[in-house]
Amino acid sequence: MGATTPDSVVTTARLGTVLVVTVNNPPVNALSVAVRQGLAAAMAQAQADDAVAGVMLVGAGKAFIAGADIREFGKPAMPPSLPEVCRSIEDCSKPVVAVLHGAALGGGLEVALSAHYRLAIQNSSGGAKLGLPEVTLGLLPGSGGTQRAPRLMGVKAATELMLSGQHLSAKAALAAGLVDKLVEGDDAQAAGLAYVNELLAQNAPVRRTRDIAIPDPAAALAELEMLKADTARKTRGLFSPLKIIECVQAAVQLPFDEGMALERSLFLQCIDSPQRAGLIHAFFAEREAAKVPEARAAAPRPVASIAIIGGGTMGAGITVSALDAGYPVIMVERDAESIARGRANVEKVYAGLVAKGRMTEEAKAAVMARYTGSTSYDDLANVDLVIEAVFEDLEVKKAVFKELDRVCKPGAVLATNTSYLDIDAIAAATSRPQDVIGLHFFSPANIMKLLEIVVPAKVSAGVVATAFELARKLKKLPVRAGVCDGFIGNRILAVYRQAADYLMEDGASPYEIDAAVRDFGFAMGPFQVTDLAGGDIGWATRKRRAAARKPGDPKARYVEVADRICERGWFGQKTGRGFYLYPEGARVGQPDPEILAIVDAERAKKGITPRSFTADEIMRRYMAAMVNEGANVVHEGIALRPLDVDVTLISGYGFPRFRGGPMKWADMEGLPRLLADIEAFAKEDPLFWKPSPLLVKLVQEGKNFDSLNHSA
Ligand code: 3HC
Ligand code: NAI
Repeated sequence: MGATTPDSVVTTARLGTVLVVTVNNPPVNALSVAVRQGLAAAMAQAQADDAVAGVMLVGAGKAFIAGADIREFGKPAMPPSLPEVCRSIEDCSKPVVAVLHGAALGGGLEVALSAHYRLAIQNSSGGAKLGLPEVTLGLLPGSGGTQRAPRLMGVKAATELMLSGQHLSAKAALAAGLVDKLVEGDDAQAAGLAYVNELLAQNAPVRRTRDIAIPDPAAALAELEMLKADTARKTRGLFSPLKIIECVQAAVQLPFDEGMALERSLFLQCIDSPQRAGLIHAFFAEREAAKVPEARAAAPRPVASIAIIGGGTMGAGITVSALDAGYPVIMVERDAESIARGRANVEKVYAGLVAKGRMTEEAKAAVMARYTGSTSYDDLANVDLVIEAVFEDLEVKKAVFKELDRVCKPGAVLATNTSYLDIDAIAAATSRPQDVIGLHFFSPANIMKLLEIVVPAKVSAGVVATAFELARKLKKLPVRAGVCDGFIGNRILAVYRQAADYLMEDGASPYEIDAAVRDFGFAMGPFQVTDLAGGDIGWATRKRRAAARKPGDPKARYVEVADRICERGWFGQKTGRGFYLYPEGARVGQPDPEILAIVDAERAKKGITPRSFTADEIMRRYMAAMVNEGANVVHEGIALRPLDVDVTLISGYGFPRFRGGPMKWADMEGLPRLLADIEAFAKEDPLFWKPSPLLVKLVQEGKNFDSLNHSA
């Protein structure tokens, strides 16, 4: 946010008897030290100037104040602290009014809660957005939010707001009691001034949130106990949610100042926690990942219409995603029966929303009116962007791209959703490889946030920029990837999945491995994921790879357990049995003694004497495999930076966000230890465990992965 002085980021102007205090710290008016100093000075001015009867706090640009300056966390704290600034606002003897026309989040809302009145504006760009989202950064509201929000909106609602990190609209904030009034219009300054003058004309008193008593403390404490049990279960291992509840308990039980003191000490504990470091890394990594050289170098092409080829699992999901973003979509399928199925796949998603009361029939009809089904490529002559999602077969895809080359207008972007195939080869099937790119969505494509944007050799920068712009419109998290087998995510997955198989054959049961991976923070372990995805998919890939193996290629260790399971027709949840048993359609599997017998038989066949692994030993191997391949992916330029690997694994593969991604985790663990682990494992299996050259180089230079995050 550059070097700023208090004067330039907070300005004051007296309009009649109102001191208008404007925070102007683009892009989101974060509460940097300069803003805090500016606000403190403005409050002193308001107090000292007898001509001032009331104060209005307002934000310049699109936000009120989006919170503390996240970039300052982890650095030495500079005075004044935000709680001190908030106290000076609340202490003011003249009415202070906060005018909220955009984001009033975290510390920004805490500033507003310290004011004596709050006005929310509803405007053409959406208007006020109120929330205490600190929990998403591993924090708790640390400037009185835990003490003031419960006094204004009630203990349960305030705690839920803080635990969810949810944003409230102006209307919802009014209903919740967080704001006093709602005004519609685009001139926040004028609306705010009118409200302050109205209050002054009424001789409205100074109202301090801290003086509000919380009604029925016993009932409030009982509610908190229930929330505590629920939160402990849902947030498994997260540090700050339970601390939030502790702070609210203090708000109910203790005098205001004591509650504030407890909030401060727990806030500082959160600041010091590795979870805070991981979550804040994830926050910035997600934003950095969208910044790529091509998007800086070229303008995106305009995209007003989209075509999807294939209406199966992915084609239908991508169609929903594009329809949700407001695009008209043409879906092309092979024949009348397939297109009817494709349309039904799309309608099913919206019918589900209608059934849950999250969409009206009219809204569904309006969305479906933008959908056209077709069996003719000739209908694609005018579309701006095509996404192919047909079978994962190079020849089928090449044939589709030949057709697209024939019918699409010059300049149309031609994208493939392939998971593994060589996009350079697909592009070569056309006369316009500069227009061909990979858009690798994840399943379910209308829900999963990750979008790997795969950049083949000949694609133009403008097409890459178009893909990133499309991601923004579809509300996806884009990551730039290079062409290789599996791009970033599936390539790394293949390696740590293999490490899990080796652990299993060497002595850990699949259930022990899954449990260790869950305890680390993943929602599911690798064998549960296989059962969910369907064992047959991996089986087909293994067969394809075995067939493609050239004579003379070094033969990697191959674990046959999964093949033995698939040969029995046990493909996971959908067949009621895989690595786990799923009696009567159960979604959570039960360990299966027959699987353990299969594993034992495979070990015996290979002469392996099983040994035991602790959860820590399991995770050291699992993570070493993941990070080492992540390093290879960066080393080869498949990922631009380590942070791209982090975003991919977090948003596409269930990596626990609070650990910041595998590369951030490795930095926090220390790269020398990781390298030492890999070198030790390499003594057992040198073909699989080869230290990445990048990891070796960084250790030699005494650097970490993060040192590479700021160079692209
Ligand atoms: N501090 C520093 N930088 C911030 C910031 C913050 N609080 N919030 C956003 N930014 C930066 C982003 O990194 C981005 O920078 P870039 O342009 O260099 O990439 C820029 O502002 C714009 O952000 P977005 O791309 O996210 O813009 P959007 O318009 O999509 O979203 C937003 C705006 C809703 C405000 C979103 O940025 C957001 O959710 N920000 C975080 C809000 C938050 O968590 N606040 C709580 C902070 S913790 C706190 O306040 C502690 C207190 O209790 C003591
Ligand atoms: P699917 O089998 O569910 O759907 C493929 C569809 O393509 C079928 O409806 C088929 O009729 C249609 N089709 C085949 N040839 C066609 C042609 N010439 N013209 C028009 N339509 C044609 O397959 P799925 O799972 O949707 O996968 C599609 C692509 O997406 C594959 O490349 C796959 O690797 C990729 N992918 C799949 C993911 C998944 O989890 N299923 C995740 C990410 C990518």
